[in-house]
Amino acid sequence: MAEQFDVVVLGGGPGGYASALYGASAGLNIAIVEEARIGGTCLHRGCIPAKELLQTAEVLRTVRTAKEFGVDAGQPTVDLATSLARKQTVVDRLTKGLEGLLKGRKVTVYPGTGTVVDAAARLVRVSDGTEITATSLIIATGSAPRSIPGFDFDGERILSSDHVLTMDQVPGRVAIIGGGAIGCEFASYLADVGSEVTVLEALPSILPGVDKQVADVVARAFKKRRITVETGISVTGYDRGEALTLHAHRGDETGDLEVDAIVVSVGRRPRSENIGLEASGVTIDERGFIAVDDHMRTSVPGVYAVGDVVPTPALAHVGFAEAIVAIKTILGEPVVPIDYDRVPWGIYCHPEVSFTGLTEQAAIDRGYDVEVSAHRFMGNGRALIIGESDGMVKIVAERGTGVILGVHIAGPWATELIGEGYLAVNWEATAADLGALIHPHPTLGELFGESALALTGRSLHG
Ligand code: NAI
Repeated sequence: MAEQFDVVVLGGGPGGYASALYGASAGLNIAIVEEARIGGTCLHRGCIPAKELLQTAEVLRTVRTAKEFGVDAGQPTVDLATSLARKQTVVDRLTKGLEGLLKGRKVTVYPGTGTVVDAAARLVRVSDGTEITATSLIIATGSAPRSIPGFDFDGERILSSDHVLTMDQVPGRVAIIGGGAIGCEFASYLADVGSEVTVLEALPSILPGVDKQVADVVARAFKKRRITVETGISVTGYDRGEALTLHAHRGDETGDLEVDAIVVSVGRRPRSENIGLEASGVTIDERGFIAVDDHMRTSVPGVYAVGDVVPTPALAHVGFAEAIVAIKTILGEPVVPIDYDRVPWGIYCHPEVSFTGLTEQAAIDRGYDVEVSAHRFMGNGRALIIGESDGMVKIVAERGTGVILGVHIAGPWATELIGEGYLAVNWEATAADLGALIHPHPTLGELFGESALALTGRSLHG
């Protein structure tokens, strides 16, 4: 006899555990099936460990520039073993916290791999043979690093993001294939800890999808930091010897690059295979994502999907938001669908990048009459005080109404600053609304006020 719940969740990452926590707090009886530890990619192979290692890089930069502040801390050296141990302590603490929360809310966690036996009956089998049924099934099986032909991961010299996060030696020369979010974070990290880094990006610029002016700030900063960025590149393969000889071309021009390690960061693939969905009636698109509507409903009634396994931004906080939408739908409550255009993004390279809403180009492409205002950190007191004056806050607004369509930041603590931008974009605030707010002085956030005021045709320091 199968065990019976209100909701069974397949996968215990941000989409899955948020479904369980939110659902349980609404009184639902919930089961999660998870094959590893609770926390998923975000906690074990993504956001948290990556940002922890990037913090090691930040401390290094601080010590390296300490003399400018009158502090002689000597020449810093890096001990990755200690850095990895600290990372693990943070991960373990957060994992234990999550396990405690789930237990406290009486969520039943089934360790093992879950397979959908009958989607229409929401019947799931765990690898130990246990069968579970529920009124609703939420699939939250996440994603895994994508490779490219000829570059199969070996975990030693051909690395995915998973491998970089457990690397205890700094490689001498590294090629990073793909200059997106992960590629730029790792380029920044590896350059700080001492690798010679080359980023090989297929498109004309790194960070495609990021506002051009903001992505250019990172490209220029990388150049200053001696991170080589090659764009418009196709990699074709590599030869293994003492070193790796990577073969690439840009149009007709071919070239080789000798490196000690290759990191492949060309995106992630959804984990929708081998979980019993093939003959389930759940529609999967041509890229392997589970198709859902704006209530996270799949093509089979009672079956929902959230997080990286659906074709929406692969971000933990999007998984959280989708979990809430799925649970509210299950509860029959009204739902405000997620506006994916406005999702806040954060990329933790140095300088950091964050954005929400439309880029200048996307707003133009959608037919808006656009006006923009960009203010640089070099005119900001706090930025000069902390010695981080590279970058800008850029606001994209509709001319005439002043409605803020997008906010784009490169620079210090950009990922912490974006909250205000998100509030403005999501609230459909105008530049005048934002310009009228008091921004404490001296703070980095003052640039919001300056940029918004400038859009009203008047300004203070701008
Ligand atoms: P991505 O989609 O951000 O970037 C992949 C990059 O690889 C693109 O620039 C693309 O043009 C390039 N590319 C694709 N095929 C290539 C090839 N054969 N040769 C050279 N370049 C090629 O994917 P990424 O960086 O792997 O990250 C995956 C996802 O993880 C992101 O989309 C994001 O959702 C999430 N993520 C979020 C972070 C954050 O919020 N801080 C940080 C890291 C990842």
